[in-house]
Amino acid sequence: MSKQVLTGIKPTGHIHLGNYVGAIKPALRLAEIESYNVAYFVADYHGLTKIHNQAEMKELSYGVAATWLALGLDPDRAVFYRQSDVPEIFELSWILACFAPKGLMNRAHAYKSMVDDNQKGGREIDNGVNMGMFTYPILMAADILLFRTELVPVGKDQIQHVEIARDIAETFNKIYRETFVLPEYVIQEETSVLPGFDGRKMSKSYNNTIPLFEEPKKLQKLINKIKTDSSLPEEPKDPETSVIFSLYQEFATVDQVEKMKVRFKEGIGWGEAKKELFQVMNSFIEKPRSKYEELMANPHVLDTILNAGAKKARETTIPFLREIKKKMGIYH
Ligand code: TRP
Repeated sequence: MSKQVLTGIKPTGHIHLGNYVGAIKPALRLAEIESYNVAYFVADYHGLTKIHNQAEMKELSYGVAATWLALGLDPDRAVFYRQSDVPEIFELSWILACFAPKGLMNRAHAYKSMVDDNQKGGREIDNGVNMGMFTYPILMAADILLFRTELVPVGKDQIQHVEIARDIAETFNKIYRETFVLPEYVIQEETSVLPGFDGRKMSKSYNNTIPLFEEPKKLQKLINKIKTDSSLPEEPKDPETSVIFSLYQEFATVDQVEKMKVRFKEGIGWGEAKKELFQVMNSFIEKPRSKYEELMANPHVLDTILNAGAKKARETTIPFLREIKKKMGIYH
């Protein structure tokens, strides 16, 4: 039986290695499975909760699209689209809002952490929170449910959002009978926390990210910034606790990883280890980086691909939304 897989990336920053390892790489692996139908998209309306600048929104949205394609997503096999091009998602979002308890939204992690920050800072609790941020999980539920999604590959921080989608789907199904498929999340357990160059989790909020398509010189510089201890080159080192090694693992072949493990245990200079890391990363990035640059220089190519994807998506979203509306007594 074929399974429906769906995931989105919101254009709120440049894609970094943490995004790649935690979300994009596992999603692309699922896309290769013959019997899976995948829908991958640019979540631009989710981006709008934060990005309020025309040029930035454009550049970041194209950036997300170009990243997927540069890394090998095949738009002929996948349904690949821009969220804002599929208006049924927004109609469904309103519908779902009418079935989503407000308390459920109050408990959403992302919103709660904004409230916590405000409280700590002595500000009014909802300071800086717009309604898009508050209802963010409902739009995400619409993304997922409209495509009858079974599997949602996401980073760990998105688990709760998938559970909220499930909750809302169950509520609706109870009232109107089986309508929505209950989605499940898929996470990449062992690699979902990639360290940044300071050793903490790689995250935009820590300012320790390494952009995925960094130019070689800058990449080298960022790698050189990785903190190491003062052990001598000949001293044995523990690969398990090394930031250099965890990054190396993601980009090297199994064989290279085994060899590097031995070298760590026998003793390797940090400078040498960094050089090896740069090499595997750079050779991995080289090809996708030039494809990415080519696409970014030709946004009309991206538009053509995305428009075709939205058209394909709407072949199923239009009739499904009609069915949903009928159940509620709304469509005539
Ligand atoms: N909220 C997701 C993130 O920040 C992006 C997203 C939007 C998404 N809609 C989705 C992910 C639907 C999976 C399914 O990463």
